[in-house]
Amino acid sequence: MAVNRTGLLIVFEGTDGTGKSTQLQLLADTLQEQGFPVLSTREPTEGVYGRKIRELYTHRHTISQEEELDLFLADRKEHVEEILSPALEAGKIILCDRYYLSTIAYQGAAGLDPEYILARNDFAPAPDLVLLFQAPIQTGIKRITQGRGERLNDFEKEDYLRQVAIMFSQIELPFIRRIDAARSIEAIHCDVLNLVQPLLEKLQ
Ligand code: ADP
Ligand code: TYD
Repeated sequence: MAVNRTGLLIVFEGTDGTGKSTQLQLLADTLQEQGFPVLSTREPTEGVYGRKIRELYTHRHTISQEEELDLFLADRKEHVEEILSPALEAGKIILCDRYYLSTIAYQGAAGLDPEYILARNDFAPAPDLVLLFQAPIQTGIKRITQGRGERLNDFEKEDYLRQVAIMFSQIELPFIRRIDAARSIEAIHCDVLNLVQPLLEKLQ
């Protein structure tokens, strides 16, 4: 979609438990301290479709793969129209936890064609940068179950996540930068800052 963008769209992607939310928050704090206008957001959103998606977490297979895809796309359309496009036009730095690479990887791993999924996302503004977090699936699962003290939902089954990781590893788009997320929070934050810095220079 054509947006008169003066802002930046920085996306955090990867399988569950790779530390996306942690790093997003650290980057948001750093940028805010430096006086940049930051907007943190995520998908699935808190909107009507996002809430429907969360209801599915514990009984995913009650709808078809196409219906599931349609729900993620409807959520994203609402997100783009109400939050992302206005913020890009207003010159904000958007930090977004998951975006259409997640749809390619998760719905692709569930059986849909990745190229078809990408084409269905043609309404969504392209990111300036996607930070793609990569760590062994077991590492992510341990962090979720031990660190966050949560149980795994239907999107977080181990075999499925392995397929999702393979999907992520096969996506080639010019704005993707891959990050070894099995390291310390500080080391990863340092990489994130180094990757974001050149974009900030363009913004000023
Ligand atoms: P995601 O958003 O990718 O699902 P989170 O940022 O919520 O992941 O992190 C999952 C859990 O792992 C949290 O308890 C978090 O504190 C912890 N965590 C995040 N990054 C690291 C890291 N690099 N090393 C160890 N634990 C981490
Ligand atoms: P997650 O980031 O774990 O959100 P929450 O903190 O609310 O649990 O994302 C929810 C799940 O949705 C995650 O397992 C990935 C999945 N997902 C898709 O399958 N397709 C998509 O397009 C998106 C955005 C997420």
